[in-house]
Formats: sequence, C-alpha cells, structure tokens
Amino acid sequence: MKFFIDTANLSQIREAQELGVLDGVTTNPSLMAKEGITGKKNILNHYSKICDIVDGDVSAEVISTDFEGIVREGEELAQLHPQIVVKVPMITEGIKAIKYFSSKTIKTNCTLIFSVGQALIAAKAGATYISPFIGRLDDVSTDGLNLISEIVTIFDNYGFSTQILAASVRHTMHIIDCAKIGADVMTGPLSSIKGLVKHPLTDIGLKKFLEDHKKSNQ
Ligand code: G3P
Repeated sequence: MKFFIDTANLSQIREAQELGVLDGVTTNPSLMAKEGITGKKNILNHYSKICDIVDGDVSAEVISTDFEGIVREGEELAQLHPQIVVKVPMITEGIKAIKYFSSKTIKTNCTLIFSVGQALIAAKAGATYISPFIGRLDDVSTDGLNLISEIVTIFDNYGFSTQILAASVRHTMHIIDCAKIGADVMTGPLSSIKGLVKHPLTDIGLKKFLEDHKKSNQ
C-alpha cells in the first residue's frame, strides 16, 4: 500500500518524507490556498518545491473545466517535473482529457469520485489513479469504505491497472480499513500517518524496559 500525504504544507511533507514511508503527495486548490500560494508562477514554483522534497508522484490539480483548458494546463504541469500527476475533475470534459493524457503517457489522477460508475468510466479512459473521497461520503451518512470495496471488486473483475487512491482520509482507522479492503494508495493528513505508530501499551512497555535497565545498571 502506498502512503501519500494530502497537503501542500512543505514542513509537513518534509516531516513525512523524513519518516521514510512517504510514496507521494496529493494537493488540491483548497490545500494550495490554505498555504497562501496564489498566482500561476507561485503555484508552479510550489509544485517544483514539493517534487524536490519527495521521490514519488505529486498530484497537481487543473482548474479548467473545458477539454482544451484541462489539456493546456495539464501539459504545462506535466512538463514541470516528471513526478507530476495531472489531477483532473470527474466531469465529462475531464474524462475526454484523461483519455487524451493517457495516449500521451501523461499520468493522471481523476478526482472527486463519489460513485462506482465514476470510478469505472475513469478507469476505462485510462486514468493512472482514481480518487474516491471516503471522508466526504462519511460526512453525508454514506459508507465511504464500502465505495472503496466495490471499486476493488470491479477493477479486479476486469484487471484494470488504474490505481485506487483512497482520498479524503481523515484518520488512522481509515488507513487501516483501506488496507484491509485493498486500496492501492491512501492519501491523508500527517496526523493520520503518525497515528499508526501509537499504542499506549508500547509507551508503558518502553518506559518499564528503560526503568529496569537503569536500575540494573546503576
Ligand atoms: O485531496 C482531496 C481530498 O483528499 C480532500 O480531503 O478532507 O478535504 O475531504 P478532505
């Protein structure tokens, strides 16, 4: 299972990279705005900085919603760095653009997936990744993990190579549940990744080991 971090915050990306378990980064326009990154030049520069920190794929989202605009933006993003994955919204024009990018071997991440039908058509178009938003489905009383499970079944039935990128992961249990189901990738906040390390019995056990060592070595 690949671990991506879902942020545009450079210090958090660095911290996850230093942990040694980071496989990539996902961003979106909201996350870029949260870091105060505005204007085309600054946005492109920020993506380059992220690519310099991590070794894996970095999703950079287009803001156009028409085919020509998505292609123009996507090609510019893809030229920026070989690690860039063009993040395209799940809309009709986006599907056409994903098919185009696929023919040009430009990697894509189809975002804002909320149904199995959307996942299926994005895979048919040749998306490298599809991003079902599990947290946002949970927010509206719909089982986000069930969507991941259904997509896994469908992709396995036909051997689609499109990777299932569980997005809108909010906490550590989402990661564990996605791993049980067989999502290829998860993207979540740094806190959700760091949560995997924690267990109170580990802390209690380590404290006792260190105390016993200290007593017997005085
Ligand atoms: O990057 C897309 C997705 O992961 C957003 O997550 O928490 O805003 O629903 P969230």
